[in-house]
Amino acid sequence: MDRQGAHTYDRINVAIDGPAGAGKSTVARLVARKLSYIYVDTGAMYRAITWYLLREGIPSEEHATVDRMVHEMQIELIPGEDVQRVLINGEDATPHIRSLQVSGQVSQYSKIEGVRTLLSQLQRQMALRKGVVMDGRDIGTTVLPDAEVKIFMTASVEERALRRYKELKDTETVTLQQLEHDIAARDRLDEGREISPLRRAEDAVLLDTTKMDIDQVVEAIVSHCRTFVNGERNHS
Ligand code: DC
Repeated sequence: MDRQGAHTYDRINVAIDGPAGAGKSTVARLVARKLSYIYVDTGAMYRAITWYLLREGIPSEEHATVDRMVHEMQIELIPGEDVQRVLINGEDATPHIRSLQVSGQVSQYSKIEGVRTLLSQLQRQMALRKGVVMDGRDIGTTVLPDAEVKIFMTASVEERALRRYKELKDTETVTLQQLEHDIAARDRLDEGREISPLRRAEDAVLLDTTKMDIDQVVEAIVSHCRTFVNGERNHS
């Protein structure tokens, strides 16, 4: 029990990891809504930093400058029903973070140690009071290794590229082939980086969503969370 008399396992943390385009953010947002939890999109934080540094003309090779700038930055996450907003030094980065330019560069900035340390700390603080659904690449392994429920969501490269294509085709000049190429390249960078590479935590449930629709994936995760909470309750 905590000080309010509520069982601490009534609210749990849910970590959802997986490669680019697996549908994590859509699913995580809906899971959070169903459980009345807070959704934290950690990719949006890496993207916002990338957008800001690109605009300031700081190349990802300049690690010392990147480190200094991110430590001076004020990063705010504002949860919302549909879109979570990310502010950098008070400026709303949200409209820019899904551009092809940011998508193409974000893996380069997110492998820098100072960037990862800072964002991981912020993310841990957000989850201290539990009741958080957090998605990313290293949540179950590094950011929240004690999360009560861990999901590793994946899908084939072709299916992930098709999903991204549907999202982008009205706003960007892009081909399906290019997206398949970009996603495969991003997988290699995310899986191959030295610090906190993308990998499935040993205790994460593997969910291959290639042939599942969004509702089925959401239902599977919510039911897993409820089973966990009910199981804990029955053991007390
Ligand atoms: O989930 P996304 O596609 O919006 O993430 C964008 C990039 O951010 C991804 O290519 C790698 C990086 N990222 C990360 O390194 N660690 C996280 N926890 C989340 C994202």
